[in-house]
Amino acid sequence: MKVAIIGQGYVGLTVAKFAAASYSVIGFDSNTKLVKDLNLGISHIEGITNSDLEMLIKNGAYRATHAGNEISDCDIVIIAVPTPLREDRTPDLRHIESACMTIAEFAIKPMLIINESTSYPGTVRSLIKPLIESLSPTKHEHLYAISPERVDPGRVDWNQKNTPRLYAGLTKQAAEQTRSFYSTFCDNLVEVSSPEVAEAAKLFENSFRQVNIALVNELAQISHALGISVRETLDAANTKPYGFMKFSPSAGVGGHCIPVDPSYLAHVAKGLGVPATFIERANLVNLEMPKYIVQRVIDDNGGSLVGKSIKVIGVAYKSNIADTRETPAEILINELKKVGAVVSWHDPLVENWNGSTSSPLGRSDIAIVVTKHDVMSEEVIKDSAPYIFDTTGRISHVQGL
Ligand SMILES: NC(=O)c1ccc[n+]([C@@H]2O[C@H](COP(=O)([O-])OP(=O)(O)OC[C@H]3O[C@@H](n4cnc5c(N)ncnc54)[C@H](O)[C@@H]3O)[C@@H](O)[C@H]2O)c1
Repeated sequence: MKVAIIGQGYVGLTVAKFAAASYSVIGFDSNTKLVKDLNLGISHIEGITNSDLEMLIKNGAYRATHAGNEISDCDIVIIAVPTPLREDRTPDLRHIESACMTIAEFAIKPMLIINESTSYPGTVRSLIKPLIESLSPTKHEHLYAISPERVDPGRVDWNQKNTPRLYAGLTKQAAEQTRSFYSTFCDNLVEVSSPEVAEAAKLFENSFRQVNIALVNELAQISHALGISVRETLDAANTKPYGFMKFSPSAGVGGHCIPVDPSYLAHVAKGLGVPATFIERANLVNLEMPKYIVQRVIDDNGGSLVGKSIKVIGVAYKSNIADTRETPAEILINELKKVGAVVSWHDPLVENWNGSTSSPLGRSDIAIVVTKHDVMSEEVIKDSAPYIFDTTGRISHVQGL
């Protein structure tokens, strides 16, 4: 059996590695430089090493391509392309649409088409299937299914093998074949009654995180006004053995899931005339955290940051990975510049970002820690500026959240 995976990013390449143990895998991506690198055994994501990739290529189990016709003899096609937001925070499905165009053009036999990209309920049934059918020059009875991806980049305890995987097919046959595919590398498969349930469950998982992170970010502001430690308060609440789940305050939420997916749910709710109040409010609270942090730093530094040199430490959206998508560091830097600060950034895992490069620690008036990777020394960070504001809770005895 041959599998094509459209999109070779965090999700697609990770699934490719696991699927390649049992299937011949084609990794299709529109980024030609990425395809070239992958075929040279150069991985761009955490969790897949260059030697993993080299081994798969050497065994003939994996090859990357940007030629759409290479999917034509595949039995299964997986869609793993980005699903970002437009400027107005509504779903931007152009990558899914473009993946559907590729499938429609080159799927010259019946295939099982599985969507792993996160999108709103109804995407498989009302967008992917009709689009492929309307664009296909040849008419084939493809099978359609969804299995939302839950990968957490950089995480090792929960992975493709042991994280339960939801799935659903538009037909019984689609569901059975989807189960059969994922059961080659996933221990726990959970079938739900419709693609819409699987799609909604994925969006709700990340909405749950976004709302709870916003709640602790609000508590951080209340605790500071009360003159108590938010982290001690959360640790105290966490001694309750039931009915509480601890989340931690931060500069905001980043990555491709938590800041984005809840807006897909809010969008579909709006279309149905149902309020998504918590989601919308949580989104605002998290997006406003950088502004709150800037105000705290201003208050601690004589009421003005004009001309002050400020180093933002850690621009990846979370520890130990190089991913800067939707990072709260970007909003923070913009807010600091607005109040006249001279801003640079440091991140040992991110060499180039937003047209500038990581600069060494030291010689700043102020340092603000957004993300602390394990490779960063707490002592070196503390020595880097006379005033440190820590949003991570990982630098002891400094100002922060
Ligand atoms: N990254 C995560 O942690 C994560 C976790 C769960 C779900 N998801 C979801 O999975 C989907 C993919 O996310 P990702 O993080 O892998 O994205 P990514 O940006 O890392 O990778 C996507 C890849 O798709 C390629 N691509 C875009 N359009 C294409 C097209 N039409 N044809 C071929 N290739 C195309 C891009 O070049 C890119 O290499 C998104 O819907 C995301 O929300 C991501």
